[in-house]
Amino acid sequence: MASPTMDLDISSLPLETRCPPFRLRQCGGFWLPETSLPGIAAVHASFAPRPEDILLASFPKSGTTWLKALAFATLHRADHPPRAADHPLRRLNPHGCVKFLELDLGLPAQDPKGGASGVLATHLPYSLLGRRITAEDSGCRIVYICRDPKDAFVSSWLFTKKNMDMAAAMDAANNDSPPSKATKALCTLQEAFELFCDGRSFYGPQWHHVVGYWQESRRNPHKVLFLRYEEMLQDPVSNLKKLAEFMGCPFSAEEEAAGAVRDIVELCSLDTLRNMEVNRNGAQLLARNDGFFRKGVAGDWRNHMTSAMAARLDRIVQDQLQGSDFTF
Ligand code: A3P
Repeated sequence: MASPTMDLDISSLPLETRCPPFRLRQCGGFWLPETSLPGIAAVHASFAPRPEDILLASFPKSGTTWLKALAFATLHRADHPPRAADHPLRRLNPHGCVKFLELDLGLPAQDPKGGASGVLATHLPYSLLGRRITAEDSGCRIVYICRDPKDAFVSSWLFTKKNMDMAAAMDAANNDSPPSKATKALCTLQEAFELFCDGRSFYGPQWHHVVGYWQESRRNPHKVLFLRYEEMLQDPVSNLKKLAEFMGCPFSAEEEAAGAVRDIVELCSLDTLRNMEVNRNGAQLLARNDGFFRKGVAGDWRNHMTSAMAARLDRIVQDQLQGSDFTF
């Protein structure tokens, strides 16, 4: 399987330009944004995880922002009690608290360890994380969040639509060229759906992304914790306790009695985060902060896809996952 290295000739990889605003390159069986390939190569070449590091992994639009907030608030609850008025999550978007491994290593003058946070995030598929991270003896642990592909697809299309102008400008800047026609024009939902079904989406195919982490979580449950967005919505408290335990900082009985779990769930809820000033008006590199908080429900695909589209995607996913013991 091809994997990016420092001397990889990116221009030789298969190119997909129909998923604006990003040009995608096929690498190791996945369609990755061209702009992240140097960062991936840098991760492989120089990122050495510390045993205590936690890596939050996800396919885009699957609950990454929420997981970042929950993990950060949980790991740092001693220094930053969730009710504190100056809690970092009240000043910073969750993406400002927890950085993306491949993006931040790809940028100059960034701390590749994500500061003192001890937690980083990635959209990379498991097979492209690199041996330093996946090796049993690296100690570093991985939390994956999985979401129904139909909701991830719809969320992604709406997010791109909202942030098209900013992302296209960055893509053009990275490619050292004015935005091309392809990167300026958002395709229709139907066109994006065809590409998604073909696995040609940002970090797609989604189902292979999910199953890579699923299989590793089965093989090595101490290394990879597999969470489901839909289950987290249904029972955030149990899932947060599971997350804390996995990260090595379980809630004590005293903390639970004092309401620490409930407070973190509340601090990281969609409504609380969405209403913070920083998330109403701020922006990240690629997107306005308010775009990260939309409906936050399971099954919103029904408002955007026909049942024929849904049945088709379900069939594709089912066929592709045959032989694995995974179901959405
Ligand atoms: P919808 O677009 O379906 O509403 P990501 O963080 O990976 O980009 O995923 C974005 C999705 O997670 C969006 O889904 C967004 O609304 C939802 N989301 C963001 N913050 C959330 C939170 N605190 N709780 C639940 N869902 C959240």
